[in-house]
Amino acid sequence: MSDAAEAPGMAGDEALKAALAAAASEVDEALDALLPAEEGDERSLFAAMRYACMGGGKKMRAFLVLESARQFGVAPQSALRVAAAVEMLHAYSLVHDDLPAMDNDDLRRGKPTVHRAWDEATAILVGDALQTQAFVVLASPETHSDPAVRAELCLHLALAAGARGMVGGQMLDMMAEKATEPLDEAAVGRLQLLKTGRLIEFSAEAGAILGKAGTHQRQCLGAYGREVGAAFQIADDLLDLTATPEEAGKATGKDAGAGKATLLGLLGPERARAQAARLVDQAVTHLDNFDKRADLLRALASHVIRRKN
Ligand code: IPE
Ligand code: IPE
Ligand code: MG
Ligand code: MG
Ligand code: MG
Repeated sequence: MSDAAEAPGMAGDEALKAALAAAASEVDEALDALLPAEEGDERSLFAAMRYACMGGGKKMRAFLVLESARQFGVAPQSALRVAAAVEMLHAYSLVHDDLPAMDNDDLRRGKPTVHRAWDEATAILVGDALQTQAFVVLASPETHSDPAVRAELCLHLALAAGARGMVGGQMLDMMAEKATEPLDEAAVGRLQLLKTGRLIEFSAEAGAILGKAGTHQRQCLGAYGREVGAAFQIADDLLDLTATPEEAGKATGKDAGAGKATLLGLLGPERARAQAARLVDQAVTHLDNFDKRADLLRALASHVIRRKN
């Protein structure tokens, strides 16, 4: 790159934190507009949907959508709608993940889980409604003028979230709790790629879809997202071991006793941390062909393993 001013570097941690906070508040505003208002006979469902999505969470997947869209000069309004849709899908996955039939958790984002604040039937329906609302948003003409782009977004979010993505990974996670033989490293890697990696991969790729980027750039962003996702889940598993519930905003210290299959469980904390650091280094190399506009994405990769919640 000839112009030194355009040379990629690494955004500082303060700049990243400010950008993450700004993205979270923009996405909360978008969610406010895109979720049903708390009125009418179903208002308790609508209230619980809003409770699950808004005013909490890191909104990291939304940030990935917004930053990947920025690489291609996508209109911020389009990117924000996609970011909000991804957060709806993610919030649905958390509401269901916390149900008694799954991880049976009472605390999420520092508040009672939806099935505790309402009841299990409401939590199941909140998840269902958030998932479908995500696709309503993606498929609406306001998201992109080109119907082919909207279809591509729907297809790839569905693939990331469904039986061969997040839902399949959650099934493997549940089966591993009851397995008599522990999963090996390759099997745990696949489980985590599906349950966490695919949605993060989609988030990083979404800007390329919106911006009609070439195959190579799109693949690079997807590969970056996959590696960030793998590092992110190792960090989540480490937080279960090391963070307090107050810090994490959710119960901690449960995974080992529940028989969760994690790389942390297989490798121990030191090797798991080293593996996460390697994944972050690899993730950043996928951005080699991007200029300094990708600095926040570079900074995010190392942030995911240093975060405290
Ligand atoms: C938690 O995701 C679930 C995992 C995939 C580990 P986040 O840590 O992104 O949760 P929020 O959205 O910030 O609450
Ligand atoms: C959840 O993984 C991944 C999802 C698809 C929701 P975890 O069960 O480890 O997430 P937390 O720790 O409850 O946030
Ligand atoms: Mg779980
Ligand atoms: Mg859980
Ligand atoms: Mg966890």
